[in-house]
Amino acid sequence: MAQTALITGSYGGLGTCFANIHAKTGGDLILVGRSQAKLDAQAQEMREKYGVNVETIAADLSKADDVQHIYETCRDNGWLPDYLINNAGFGGQGDFARERTMEQDLSMIAVNIEAPTRMLKLFLPDMIERGSGKILNVSSTAATMPGPLQAVYYATKSYVTSWSNALWRELAGTGVTVTCLMPGAMRTGFADAGASQTPACSPMRSTPRRSPRTVTTGCSRASSM
Ligand SMILES: NC(=O)c1ccc[n+]([C@@H]2O[C@H](COP(=O)([O-])OP(=O)(O)OC[C@H]3O[C@@H](n4cnc5c(N)ncnc54)[C@H](OP(=O)(O)O)[C@@H]3O)[C@@H](O)[C@H]2O)c1
Repeated sequence: MAQTALITGSYGGLGTCFANIHAKTGGDLILVGRSQAKLDAQAQEMREKYGVNVETIAADLSKADDVQHIYETCRDNGWLPDYLINNAGFGGQGDFARERTMEQDLSMIAVNIEAPTRMLKLFLPDMIERGSGKILNVSSTAATMPGPLQAVYYATKSYVTSWSNALWRELAGTGVTVTCLMPGAMRTGFADAGASQTPACSPMRSTPRRSPRTVTTGCSRASSM
């Protein structure tokens, strides 16, 4: 029976790689993102390319109600994700106290920390009851150090790594695993998403970036998590 992967931020740079990796081996998909038009286009491409079943859920992960909506849509339709990839996230540059607004940083915390936390609060109990499930949380090498001028972004990724490691231990013996991916800089939409706050001289612009396909090379499919 085909395994189903739910991927947040599915049409972004890394999300697209995850979707292709999983669908290539016949896995079904639940694609989650803000734009229904982009989700529809991606779903059509995946169906045509790989012949897999694809569902879509439009949701703004900065909103708690939208995260609840993702869970309820899956539950009500009997869509059981075998893999859940908390991939959506964004960054942004600027002096914490003098440049970045309250709204910018709290919205980042909502998407990078609160949304994945809510997702697992909702989905994990069902996975534990089924005795199977694989979680992939996307962190960053940013988690390993403080990030002046990206203070909140680096801190959000520290949370994701620390939280994932603790959950991995708590879930031992349940049949459910948690894996944390910590990529370095990649060429995706990420820099553009934070570009309005990114000075031309910033490290975000000058750091060499790898293709997200390079980062996911070695994962023949999501089930290798
Ligand atoms: N690129 C890097 O250098 C790098 C390095 C280390 C870790 N990462 C992490 O990798 C993950 C994927 O990022 P990426 O590099 O693939 O960047 P990306 O191309 O910008 O993709 C990010 C995805 O997240 C979605 N997203 C952002 N805010 C959202 C919201 N409020 N609700 C729902 N979806 C939202 C975006 O959708 P929209 O287009 O609709 O906003 C997009 O699909 C992120 O967690 C990022 O922190 C990236």
